[in-house]
Amino acid sequence: MQDYHDFLGEVLISSEDLQRRITELGEQISKDYAGKGELLLICILRGGVLFLTDLMRQISIPHAIEFMAVSSYGVGGRQSTGQIRISLDLNVDIFNKHVLLVEDIIDSGHTLAAILELLSTRKPASLNVCTLLDKVERREVEVPIKYCGFTIPNKFVFGYGLDIDDYYRNLPFIGVVDLNKYNPGS
Ligand code: IMP
Ligand code: MG
Repeated sequence: MQDYHDFLGEVLISSEDLQRRITELGEQISKDYAGKGELLLICILRGGVLFLTDLMRQISIPHAIEFMAVSSYGVGGRQSTGQIRISLDLNVDIFNKHVLLVEDIIDSGHTLAAILELLSTRKPASLNVCTLLDKVERREVEVPIKYCGFTIPNKFVFGYGLDIDDYYRNLPFIGVVDLNKYNPGS
């Protein structure tokens, strides 16, 4: 695998800016959900993992966490179609709970729309979305977003949970890929 320095176009969001914004989101969520009843954060694997673990440390009210994994039947790994397959379902019943879905990025919106449709059939008390990134220009289906970290331009990004061909999720910042320099084979 290539070292990321070989294809990093630019750092779009620094680690400091990510953490600052996540602190704000955590404070807002703590206020909004205070005294409401059971709060459950559901992280969509695997991209949302870093965001979840930083966000939950900034949420000051009691809450539980759960994980879900879905794969979308897309063209290659970079586009989704709206057909999803649940590869890991929740271990708990969400009936009457306040569910907040924690996502890394909303792109076309297909994955999220399918997840929301499925979870709403299980009758949670509320169902909202917190996404770190919103690539708003790429939206194909409308999805309600209650909390958004950053709106970003239509560029392929990586780091802080987001992968390129399953790698580079560990980086503490969000970078833009220079596709002319990225060689999957090398
Ligand atoms: P959507 O169904 O098109 O909204 O796709 C959302 C999923 O596509 C995300 O959860 C990511 O896994 C992936 N994705 C979309 N854009 C990017 C990107 O710029 N970098 C890395 N993954 C991305
Ligand atoms: Mg991915």
